[in-house]
Amino acid sequence: MSASLENRGQFGSKLGFILSAAGSAVGLGNIWKFPGKAYNNGGGSFLVIYILMVALIGTTVMLAEFTLGRKTQKNAVGALRELNAKYSWVGGLGILTGFIILCYYCQVGGWTIKYIIAYLTESTTVYADPTAYFLNMLGVNGFPLEGAIIYPLIFLGLTSFIISRGVAEGIEKLSKFLMPLLFILLLGLMIRACTLPGAGEGVAYMLHFDPSTINGNSFLVALGQAFFSLSLGMGVMITYASYLSKDDNLVTNTGVVCVLDTCVALFAGFMIIPAVFATGIDPGMGGGFAFATLAGVFMSIPGGTIFGLLFYALLFFAAITSSISILEGTVAFLVEEKGMERKKTVVYVSVVLFIIGIFYTLSQAYLPIKGVWWSLSGIEFPIFGDFMEYLTDRLLLPFGAFFTTVFVGWIWGTDNAIKEATSDGKFKFGLAPLWAFLVKFAAPVAILCIIVAGLLLGMS
Ligand code: PFF
Repeated sequence: MSASLENRGQFGSKLGFILSAAGSAVGLGNIWKFPGKAYNNGGGSFLVIYILMVALIGTTVMLAEFTLGRKTQKNAVGALRELNAKYSWVGGLGILTGFIILCYYCQVGGWTIKYIIAYLTESTTVYADPTAYFLNMLGVNGFPLEGAIIYPLIFLGLTSFIISRGVAEGIEKLSKFLMPLLFILLLGLMIRACTLPGAGEGVAYMLHFDPSTINGNSFLVALGQAFFSLSLGMGVMITYASYLSKDDNLVTNTGVVCVLDTCVALFAGFMIIPAVFATGIDPGMGGGFAFATLAGVFMSIPGGTIFGLLFYALLFFAAITSSISILEGTVAFLVEEKGMERKKTVVYVSVVLFIIGIFYTLSQAYLPIKGVWWSLSGIEFPIFGDFMEYLTDRLLLPFGAFFTTVFVGWIWGTDNAIKEATSDGKFKFGLAPLWAFLVKFAAPVAILCIIVAGLLLGMS
């Protein structure tokens, strides 16, 4: 055994693991992405489909990842290699996906810091024109030094610092502190939003189930969102579970993490949509929604500046506990598989992903790539940033999740996985056969549908 494996960290407690895994799951996906998707796909109808997708497919894939990690006590590549060397590339694919996600995740994470500072020091400038303020940060008026470099660098620096401290001292300590805080903040903000005059219509929209708004695309969006939100398909949950002691019940952990993550997404939906309805602001739900649109919302409600400050703090907490999990996936791989030193690895990986990430922000407004390429070739090229999100959310994450289920279902075998999941090899309510069915058949088929649809529909 190599020195790095002997010195592997471990979560100090069951709660520490649950909060860290929930910290990974709860992130920009819940607060920055979910409300917009719910709004655009029929409100209450989307919530029902989303919950269904999490309950059937999300939990299935998460448990598969947990069993792989805990069984082998290795990073994503090492875990698959140990069980069947021919499939170690599945872990590698996940790590690549994580790396790409982290490139843009750190940029958006940086924007949350910029907005926290803006709300503390210059909220009137933000309010003068919230959209212009946001676009300015992205570089419509010149190189976006703050939006692309300074704040993302601070965000990444904090992420790297925590990671370099290791599992129990870094990740677990931070998650134990931040996750409860995040829940309290979110509940407070949701109550504030739902009690605004005129918010009732938004609440009603989020509770209204109208089957006519459901179509094939709603399922695809819901499943893709569920993977992103639950941190599945890139081996992060394999890596986290590898730091878990043998006596933890993985089925219970899966249930708790999925419920916590879904509650946060729902609370975020019930915070944002009612606030948007109450203020009558057009929810223009792009990536700038949480920044440009919501700043307009905060401006028009009593106590909005405090509300806004707390919101961006919440977004920052959620983002940092997720970004550390993604970076940990890559770092654990390089340390354990390539024998690199942990602290140096953190620095090297961070530098590379920071440089690539800069182009995410630059591509939003500063570099008119789309225009130039379009006029040269006659083909509409996607914006680099949008392309990164399409590649990861619609293709690579589902690919990773697909191969994970196929591997656990058909190669390693559900009997082995079930034995690993609980100390007595039994699931409550006799659910083991159902899980085996989901992992072998239902999940791979459903995931294959999103991959095919993603390829056929392209970025539309
Ligand atoms: N689950 C995180 C979110 O909802 O923002 C993002 C994420 C973290 C995706 C870790 C994938 C991952 F492995």
